[in-house]
Amino acid sequence: MSENIATPGFFLSFEGSEGCGKSTQIGLLAERLEKAGQRVVVLREPGSTSAGEAIRHLLQHAKEGRSLTPEAELLLFAASRAQLVREKIRPLLEAGGFVILDRFLDSTTVYQGLARGLPEAAVAAVNAFAIGGTLPRLTVLLDVDTETAWARIHATGRELDRMESQPREFYEKVRQGYLGLAGAHPERIAVVNAALAPEAVHEEIFKLVEERRHAL
Ligand code: TMP
Repeated sequence: MSENIATPGFFLSFEGSEGCGKSTQIGLLAERLEKAGQRVVVLREPGSTSAGEAIRHLLQHAKEGRSLTPEAELLLFAASRAQLVREKIRPLLEAGGFVILDRFLDSTTVYQGLARGLPEAAVAAVNAFAIGGTLPRLTVLLDVDTETAWARIHATGRELDRMESQPREFYEKVRQGYLGLAGAHPERIAVVNAALAPEAVHEEIFKLVEERRHAL
């Protein structure tokens, strides 16, 4: 992976399998940082640019996306990311903003690489090309056991998207993939137990963020 480019802002990403509580935790953290006077921007992947949202629709909901090969899927996630990095993330970080990403390159490593089985080297090369050196200072991995995640998703009662409808074994592969990745990059990825109550999870995340900001 290429060298991280230093900027005045702070770049944080959240990762985890479906049902890990990412949206809740991102909301709680953004609110707390904003109250403390920080300029916070929350972005999601795929998406958060016009082109990225069109790619998201194709990947998740459009009937044209149903026959996508794993290779095409990888390149579409990367295309959305390449656009987002240059159109939004870099300018925001250069202006001193606090940028929170709901998923970033680790999702591709885990979902397309480890869970879908694309060659690791190809996924790493595509990821590196898409981000061009813009890496998060901190990545929070919300870890929850597959049973709990599965139950949370099915409790919503809404229609599941293409990824959420994967079999339970896929979820387990995703979880193990993330834990392996965190073990390989302890300097960037922090694992947080997301099975705890939301307030407790939030406190732990806030502490991690403060530590990393002061370590700059
Ligand atoms: P979410 O925004 O609701 O978490 O959904 C995004 C879905 O896309 C989720 O199932 C994970 C998947 N995904 C990948 O497979 N690869 C990627 O690179 C990204 C960003 C997401």
